[in-house]
Amino acid sequence: MMRAKRLFQTAAAAAAIFLVGLGTAGCGSEEQETEKTSLRIGVSLYRGDDTFINNIRQELEACAKEYEQETGTKVRLDIQDAKGSQYTQNDQAERFISLECDALCINLVDRTAATNIIDRAMEGNVPVVFFNRQPVEEDMNRWNELYYVAAGARESAVLQGRIVADRYRRDPDSLDLNGDGVVSYVLLEGESSHQDSLIRTEWSIRTLKDAGVPIERITGGIANWERSQASALMEQWLLEYPDAIELVISNNDDMALGAIDAMERAGVSGIKVVGIDGTTPGLQAVEDGKMMGTVSSDKEAYAKAIFEIAAAKALGEELPENVVLEDGKYYSSPQRIVVEN
Ligand code: BGC
Repeated sequence: MMRAKRLFQTAAAAAAIFLVGLGTAGCGSEEQETEKTSLRIGVSLYRGDDTFINNIRQELEACAKEYEQETGTKVRLDIQDAKGSQYTQNDQAERFISLECDALCINLVDRTAATNIIDRAMEGNVPVVFFNRQPVEEDMNRWNELYYVAAGARESAVLQGRIVADRYRRDPDSLDLNGDGVVSYVLLEGESSHQDSLIRTEWSIRTLKDAGVPIERITGGIANWERSQASALMEQWLLEYPDAIELVISNNDDMALGAIDAMERAGVSGIKVVGIDGTTPGLQAVEDGKMMGTVSSDKEAYAKAIFEIAAAKALGEELPENVVLEDGKYYSSPQRIVVEN
């Protein structure tokens, strides 16, 4: 992959003279002018086995290496897996702060439970970049050193709806398989507590309706972003509604792939499937013609925003020009449509 050649704006930071705490845990009160030649950043993932999050993790690691090479600042990226436990994640954050991490990057397990981490970060004066799982606004407003990076849920859903609408306009028979004038779909949803699930479902369907595509929902279910759960649901639906399903709308690529797994097991073909994320296996499925399309978020820009905000805030630097924050806190990564040939 071609990596952006832009120099990290914080290059000068390697040699910059600024204040850091000495001796005590976190940023201590005793301050002294010193030269900052290294950065330590603590990252906690809600689940290390999540495909999309794994893709972001790989990009983050690449970013840290690139930053080291370009600035000469040694970066220690400490990445931990919370394995679905908010308690574990709280402990990890606390430990990062006691190890004097300069910034935290947190992919919350429970997006309504950021309080503890924010309390500790404020005490230690350590900036926090949340990503992918959005803390509630009340929490985000507690401190001006809290940031949030994600791919906009509404944008991804509108683009997903557009994939189907464009296809219907060009070739209605490929979606209306039984020729009854209606596209009958099933819907795979992510975790019910995740902001992306509700927004993606709503805006994907709304976009299809607004575009005048005649659609009818057969059924839907929550598969918690997981391939195996989606596969089990689809297996059941194929038995319950034989020859009726014409389209699978999935809140993410992994669940879309699960639906395809079930179709392959059942020997069913022709049903169109759309996802969101553009994960490595998702993009592969589009290329192989197994998935009609996906909405790919720019994972390099996404990870770079997380890293650059963390580094710049840790060093007390301005953000580079390519990282534009809304309301001084929120960054949305670019997304694009990827469709089969
Ligand atoms: C992604 C999913 C991922 C989830 C994790 C969503 O934005 O689309 O693939 O599993 O975030 O929080």
